[in-house]
Amino acid sequence: MRTCVALLALVPVLTRSASAQFVLADQFVGYNFFEGWTWETINDPTNGRVNYTDQAFARAQNLSYATPTTFVMRADDTNVVPASARGRNSVRILSNKAYGDSVAILDLSHMPQGCATWPAFWSLSATGPWPAGGEIDIIEGVNENVQNLVSLHTSPNCTMPPQRVESGTVTSTNCDANVNYNQGCGVQGATGSYGVPFNAAGGGWYVMARTAEDGIRVWFWARGDPTVPPEVLYAPALGILGTTISPNPTWGAPVASFPMGPLCDYATHFNAHQFVFDLTFCGDWAGNDYTTTGCSGSCTDLVNNDPEAFSESYWAVNSLRIYTRVESTPYPPYP
Ligand SMILES: *[C@@H]1O[C@H](CO)[C@@H](O)[C@H](O)[C@H]1NC(C)=O
Ligand SMILES: *[C@@H]1O[C@H](CO)[C@@H](O)[C@H](O)[C@H]1NC(C)=O
Ligand SMILES: *[C@@H]1O[C@H](CO)[C@@H](O)[C@H](O)[C@H]1NC(C)=O
Repeated sequence: MRTCVALLALVPVLTRSASAQFVLADQFVGYNFFEGWTWETINDPTNGRVNYTDQAFARAQNLSYATPTTFVMRADDTNVVPASARGRNSVRILSNKAYGDSVAILDLSHMPQGCATWPAFWSLSATGPWPAGGEIDIIEGVNENVQNLVSLHTSPNCTMPPQRVESGTVTSTNCDANVNYNQGCGVQGATGSYGVPFNAAGGGWYVMARTAEDGIRVWFWARGDPTVPPEVLYAPALGILGTTISPNPTWGAPVASFPMGPLCDYATHFNAHQFVFDLTFCGDWAGNDYTTTGCSGSCTDLVNNDPEAFSESYWAVNSLRIYTRVESTPYPPYP
């Protein structure tokens, strides 16, 4: 009953906005991750101590697991890793489809946490070669981090103004992957947007929207946050192909906003992207910053010899819904 009332109350929000409209194009819940995504077995380009496993192996080892309402991707937390092995068994999945202007709503109940971990939910150009076509990091962090880092990595000539309408903290403004050791242009979220406190709160919602006019924006609402917009909170109830939404002023300032224009031309730097979830260990960030991000000892030793350290090293996804842009609404407004 309460859901019905809330959905009716939401109709004016859905129909009044003058900003870009997006229509639900794909929704991934539970088992349909196995159909719409590819388990990549590449060597980790970021030099992590990881063995990215194929889907059959990952399912047989329960490193990838689904029910009708949840999808889990985890690190192996039972086996010691021989020094001669490629690394600890884990998962990296790539969406089969690529999306241009879009809104992606991720409802996440748990992300990998703990020393040696470096998980990310991000998107990259389907055509590349990287960094051509761009990279958008929506969720990323390492080790005992408790603040998420949102960042872009691009070809040259893309920078961000230091002052933007966003709640996060700017860490760098040059998005060019070829400078500053591929730091990209980053914005750090609040405590609780990543890691142990994110999981303790039951996770939350990450939303990424991208258009030339409004740039690339990322919002985060923790599970209990009363300000989560109805379009995000009720995405499952609205999970009807043809439903339209629009990021609008009632959503509040995003955590990270990357405006497009004279400093960074959208069409030059961003094209259609595939989404990725991955989980690597040590490597260029988690390994190099191991002792400055809450961990001690040797990252590689932990990965090799301490499987039980990885019991909380998993993604648990309630849903990922991807809306793509429509110029005019071809469907009647919901309901
Ligand atoms: C690495 O993953 C593959 C599956 O993609 C698997 O066959 C192989 O046994 C794994 N390596 C180790 C050392 O477990
Ligand atoms: C596989 O993993 C899921 C999620 O972590 C868990 O609920 C389930 O019990 C596991 N199944 C087996 C056979 O270990
Ligand atoms: C950099 O981008 C701007 C547009 O954003 C463009 O006018 C300028 O020519 C570009 N410079 C180079 C060196 O590509």
